[in-house]
Amino acid sequence: MPSLKPIDFADIFGTTLDLLSETTRGAIGAHNWNYRVLEGPERDGIMLDLLQRIESRRLTLVQNEDKSRWERGWGENLEDFEKSGGKLEALLPKYIRPGLPVRLYGEFVQPEDPNFESNWYSIYRAWFVQRHLSGFKSIFEFGSGSGFNVAYVAQQFPGARVMGLDWVQPSVDIVEALRKEHGLNVAGRQFDFFHPDETLDMPAGSAIFTVGALEQTGTQWESFLEFILKKKPACCFHIEPIYEWYDHENNLVDYTAWKAHEVRNFWRGFPGKIIELEKQGRARILKTKRINFGSLVLEGYSQLFWKPV
Ligand SMILES: C[S@@+](CC[C@H](N)C(=O)[O-])C[C@H]1O[C@@H](n2cnc3c(N)ncnc32)[C@H](O)[C@@H]1O
Repeated sequence: MPSLKPIDFADIFGTTLDLLSETTRGAIGAHNWNYRVLEGPERDGIMLDLLQRIESRRLTLVQNEDKSRWERGWGENLEDFEKSGGKLEALLPKYIRPGLPVRLYGEFVQPEDPNFESNWYSIYRAWFVQRHLSGFKSIFEFGSGSGFNVAYVAQQFPGARVMGLDWVQPSVDIVEALRKEHGLNVAGRQFDFFHPDETLDMPAGSAIFTVGALEQTGTQWESFLEFILKKKPACCFHIEPIYEWYDHENNLVDYTAWKAHEVRNFWRGFPGKIIELEKQGRARILKTKRINFGSLVLEGYSQLFWKPV
């Protein structure tokens, strides 16, 4: 049975084996990465089901600046967090669903371990945070959701100030609770990608990151981009599904993600704009990497890293 090896992790992350730390290798070694590539009727069944969901729009859609879904979702996490007496596990978002097939190198595969995707994400996040965020004194997560990334980054770098921003109040309340109850060096603040708050103070040399958050802006990311160009953080790290990077003309698995992306009105056009800005000398692209791994519906973890100049 095939299995993800450290070399595959390095390849998926866009690094080399020698740059994976002992800790990362240890974490990889602690889980079961076996999977089965789905073929024949099983693969057709998944494909047909996805195409039917796409056609009938039975997918969560981004529309009309509607934040109610997020208010409800993060409100539940906030409640669980408070009930648990401030346990960080209560912040795990519910959208990584255990047991489902995942996307891997242009195939649908069924992992043996039902928590394959969430285990993978923990390792990916730990690698990303150590590799890219260490050394920054001021770090901002935009669209911080349940606050679990904010908590993790703040624990890794107690000397840094980590700010969690989101357009819904429960997310802000969670980050504030992380400061009050866990003594983390964090702060929460409301922020809307569609109407950026220019009064937000961003010290020189800051890093900003997003994880599956800009995906929610469809084609309306211009105001946020203008805001970033003005604030000039030292680095912008976007871990997001990237519409433009699927091989939708040659690969049917990719086609389903590409189509789902369109129907859901997810992030489109941003990578092209950054390339244009680079040509104009207003941005520098630091890294672009399609992550050939994702959930059943799309690949959510690709890397677009850049900086305004
Ligand atoms: C898929 S969740 C990701 C949350 C978190 N980054 C994570 O990794 O779990 C998308 C997040 O984007 C936020 N969001 C959506 N539209 C937004 C907007 N216009 N302004 C700010 N945040 C927004 C949602 O409230 C939600 O927290």
